[in-house]
Amino acid sequence: MSSASEPRNIVLTGLQWGDEGKGKVVDVLACRSRLVVRFQGGNNAGHTLVVDGRQLILHVVPSGILNAGVSCVIGNGVVVDPEVLIIELDALAARGVDLSGERLILSDQAHVIMPYHRTLDACRESALGGKKIGTTKKGIGPTYEDKVARRGVRVCDLLDERALAERLYAVLPEKNRQLVDWYGDAAHTVDELLSWARPLAERLRPHVRDSVGHLHAANAAGQAILFEGAQGTFLDVDHGTYPFVTSSNTVAGQACAGTGVGPTDIHAVVGIAKAYTTRVGAGPFPTELDDALGAHIRDIGHEYGATTGRPRRCGWFDAALVRHAVRLNGTTHLALTKLDVLSGLETLQIGLGYEDSDAPPAGAEALMAARPRYETVPGWQEDIRQCRTWDSLPPTCRAYVERIEVLVGLPVGLVSVGPGREEIIVRSPLFRLADT
Ligand code: IMP
Repeated sequence: MSSASEPRNIVLTGLQWGDEGKGKVVDVLACRSRLVVRFQGGNNAGHTLVVDGRQLILHVVPSGILNAGVSCVIGNGVVVDPEVLIIELDALAARGVDLSGERLILSDQAHVIMPYHRTLDACRESALGGKKIGTTKKGIGPTYEDKVARRGVRVCDLLDERALAERLYAVLPEKNRQLVDWYGDAAHTVDELLSWARPLAERLRPHVRDSVGHLHAANAAGQAILFEGAQGTFLDVDHGTYPFVTSSNTVAGQACAGTGVGPTDIHAVVGIAKAYTTRVGAGPFPTELDDALGAHIRDIGHEYGATTGRPRRCGWFDAALVRHAVRLNGTTHLALTKLDVLSGLETLQIGLGYEDSDAPPAGAEALMAARPRYETVPGWQEDIRQCRTWDSLPPTCRAYVERIEVLVGLPVGLVSVGPGREEIIVRSPLFRLADT
């Protein structure tokens, strides 16, 4: 639980292109929270949990679900694939995780990923040929498109067969024209989709609530809320490397729109950055290491997508990007993850900016062409996974973190030195584990 002197409601976001190790930091912060809430994205995200020594990858359910004192909320800003959510609920129940009462709440206003959204995502990607975005093909983009175009299906519609039928009669003719005439795929019928929806709706009904009202009540009662971002700042549809982005806003501001909790009720923003940079899918990546060193970082850091299994592109820490992300998110606290992966390198490089500017240019083409300016710093040879205090880190390792602090303009409050829950060095009281 949070103490009176510490911020109560916290937003946590990734400061790069996703996969910054947010799940582990959520785990640390969940100890002091009563609710963990997702506010954007869908099952394009993925985090790996270990339950009873067995690995479980969750894509929709918030990371806090294993923490018995926490209630999880899938907010209105999330797009939900009901089939995937049910698979996750079943997997958690099979491992003895309590999902009764209000442990897992699904917003009645969240948008539903329909079967045709998944098909359209895959068809569009293959139609792009060599110009693919590299989406996860989970239907995320087409579902957000329909949300904004006011032809989406929401969870409240899924639970109300008459409302759902009405939506589908309005929407399907256009969808079928696209699917059949444009992409040569199969058409859907209203009856078929109603039959698809019926058992899913009944299975999810016990979890569906007015999530906005629920969060306001929790907030009024002084309960600590953790808003768990998915993806990362540069996948944001406004602020990312457009068009190589996801279809939601991933920055901290979206925590408000995606849950209905107002900005004055957010007390801190935690930004997570990896000690180097990775990216999955296509798009600009100025500090990418497209060589043996990049492959080495990928191997040591196990940099393969949790959702698609794709190898992640790896590169040096880009301080110019992270500095920009710190501003975009209003970041108050910084966590640096996977520092141990860089052990054993003779020297390291840090991206300082680009040949023509300090900030990343707006256009993807310009960023693709941008040549980074680097600073070279000494590496460290020691294995740092056993280190639990700042002073026990090798001096050059500390110097690397301190240089990052100067360049991005924030102190690093937590350093992660290994995948385990305890493999952290805490430098700010905010990140102190409840049981340490
Ligand atoms: P979409 O979100 O499936 O539409 O994919 C759009 C882009 O975002 C692609 O480059 C994906 O690889 C990337 N992406 C989506 N979710 C994640 C994530 O959780 N981590 C890293 N990249 C992601």
